[in-house]
Amino acid sequence: MKGAGEVGGGPEASERKDMVTVRVPAKLNLQLAVGPPRADGYHDLVTVFHAVSLYDQVQVEPAGRDGVTVTGEGADQVPGGQDNLALRAVTALRAAVRDRGPGPGSVHVTIAKRIPVAAGLAGGSADAAAALVACNELWATGLSQQQLGGIAATVGSDVAFALLGGTAVGRGRGEQLTPALAPATQYHWVLAFADGQLSTPAVYAALDRLRSSQGGSGGPRGSGGKGFPPGSGGSRGVAPRGNTAPPEVTPPALDAALMSALRSGDATRVGQRLSNDLQPAAVSLFPALRKTLTAGLELGALGALLAGSGPTCVFLAANAERALELAVSLSGAGVCRSVARVSGPAPGAAVVSADG
Ligand code: C5P
Repeated sequence: MKGAGEVGGGPEASERKDMVTVRVPAKLNLQLAVGPPRADGYHDLVTVFHAVSLYDQVQVEPAGRDGVTVTGEGADQVPGGQDNLALRAVTALRAAVRDRGPGPGSVHVTIAKRIPVAAGLAGGSADAAAALVACNELWATGLSQQQLGGIAATVGSDVAFALLGGTAVGRGRGEQLTPALAPATQYHWVLAFADGQLSTPAVYAALDRLRSSQGGSGGPRGSGGKGFPPGSGGSRGVAPRGNTAPPEVTPPALDAALMSALRSGDATRVGQRLSNDLQPAAVSLFPALRKTLTAGLELGALGALLAGSGPTCVFLAANAERALELAVSLSGAGVCRSVARVSGPAPGAAVVSADG
């Protein structure tokens, strides 16, 4: 039996597991409202997270020392060693439970990726959340979901949501979560994966630059899915302060019309309220996305926006059949690398097997 003795002290032998496998979803942001940069380099957000049925699978097993193996979609671009977010999550959990006993042992983490890397879908955060859930089970730490959420928030802004899943409002850096009371409606989405990647910090920095260059031209925050002029830049969320003063970015606010649309379960209304403040910045760095977003709308999507900081384009379809038609048409249009059909909300990180 591999390394059972390395799981020191805490759990009784009967509780120990040899291997735990966790499935974890990708996320979209149905609204992403971004405030001004904070002193710590992050931006205050108000966002509506939505987990979708595109999953990575993460396995942990006791080992002589911590390590990670990544297979699948974009595996060669995922950092190994302690730069890997899943291993950072393991280290954070171990530190948090150390005072509960002699401390849990080393693990090997195996990540099977289906969520593309650096695509705006929080795949790295998902793997970190999955590693937390898996080690929590492997080590039988007895931590609550809330305690795990607290550790998740220290690892990355999107990690806590990957634990929770469903649809939830995120504030702060995105780590302060309130589950959204939405009906059991399943929404049908088409994801168009781009030929390329975007770095999240680079997109936030581009947004700050765009906003300062707009110099307080004013305008309302938020762009609807249908009403979106892709990459128009606009001046959403930038309030005028006279001709010479630097522009003031208005604090982000939850879109009440989106929340009402989600409560109604009406996909048409939801499609009209999709918005992402990062979109003009991402399109400025990756202009080809404009064409993809426009193509999806012309092919009948109820709404379109970028996933997080991009470059994945997200389209809402009226139902599963329309999603299939849209996916086929988008791949035929040659405006993306590949497409996937997903539905949401999907559950958060969950154990699929635990062998002891
Ligand atoms: O928290 P995480 O490591 O996922 O964030 C990645 C980067 O994205 C941060 O270093 C920061 O540049 C940017 N970010 C931000 N404001 C947020 C979340 C992320 O500026 N609320």
